[in-house]
Amino acid sequence: MEKLLAHVSHLEITSPDVEASARFYVEDFGLREVRRENGRVYLRCWGDYDSYSLVLVPGDEPGLHMMAWRTTSAEALEAAAGRIEDSGITGSWTEGGYGYGRAYEFVGPYGHPMRLVWEVEKYEAPKGLASIYPDRPEKRSRHSAAPRFLDHVTVASQDVRGFASWYSDVLGFRTMAFTDLEEAPITVFSVLTTNEKSHDLGVVLDTSERAGRVNHIAFWVDAHEDLLRTADILMEWGTPMEYGPSIHGIGEQNFLYFREPSALRVELNSGGYRNYVPDWTANTWTPSQGSNNFYRNGAMPHSMTESFPLAEGLTATEEGAPDEMKEALLNPYAVPGRG
Ligand SMILES: [Fe+2]
Repeated sequence: MEKLLAHVSHLEITSPDVEASARFYVEDFGLREVRRENGRVYLRCWGDYDSYSLVLVPGDEPGLHMMAWRTTSAEALEAAAGRIEDSGITGSWTEGGYGYGRAYEFVGPYGHPMRLVWEVEKYEAPKGLASIYPDRPEKRSRHSAAPRFLDHVTVASQDVRGFASWYSDVLGFRTMAFTDLEEAPITVFSVLTTNEKSHDLGVVLDTSERAGRVNHIAFWVDAHEDLLRTADILMEWGTPMEYGPSIHGIGEQNFLYFREPSALRVELNSGGYRNYVPDWTANTWTPSQGSNNFYRNGAMPHSMTESFPLAEGLTATEEGAPDEMKEALLNPYAVPGRG
């Protein structure tokens, strides 16, 4: 198959309190607000080549409103839409929106809204923010926790292998790895990619009946030291670390996870290998091999299994959180030390 998709372009996430979420992303995490429209807040990292990479959308619950990928060409956009319709899914064409042109939007077989775009508005920094370096879309942020750009999104599906097959067969994602439980042949995790990174799309097993959920969104920093400094800054300003900093075995990326004010999980990554193998065959790991924790010396907190929106009828604490995380997860701003 001709390569159809190039990279993840932007994510739209819902928040019950857009103002609190926006304040967190801007003040604590170092993103920059570029637009407000109809209650939506558009945010960008300093190194995003497109106009923005994260949109906060008002909603009753935290969740994934849309995940957008850029295609490799105008023809690839047409071809991708054709392949989706051939698979039995009907989407719709739109004239585009802020920052992007004609788009094909559909809901994937496991309930995840996806937008495919070719035409995007190349980001032009306003006067005073233009970088002194020609290839940078804008000056490096002065905020010392600021991520460089959007990295990936990890969603939840009731059938991890079915999910990986569909996105590989229909849209040409390379499936890079699986994790199966030791105790039973149950696949709990997979990573897929459109490029040389280990993944720009992840999928965790969803044991709830609720389709279309998201487990986390992830951003990138260049160096491990940047990631450790971000952990330090977030801790100092009242955002606890849910998991990490550590290294994933799959992808070999440095990681840390925390929650934004809506309780949605955010990851920060650096490092990791590049993989250009066109006919890569996905290996199946088990957790004890270090799929999640390279050093094989720490269990993932149970709260990490929580996806968004929360499963019907469950609270954040009931779905996944151990006791010591309850208060922090339910109200990140209630943590002692938050200024
Ligand atoms: Fe991730």
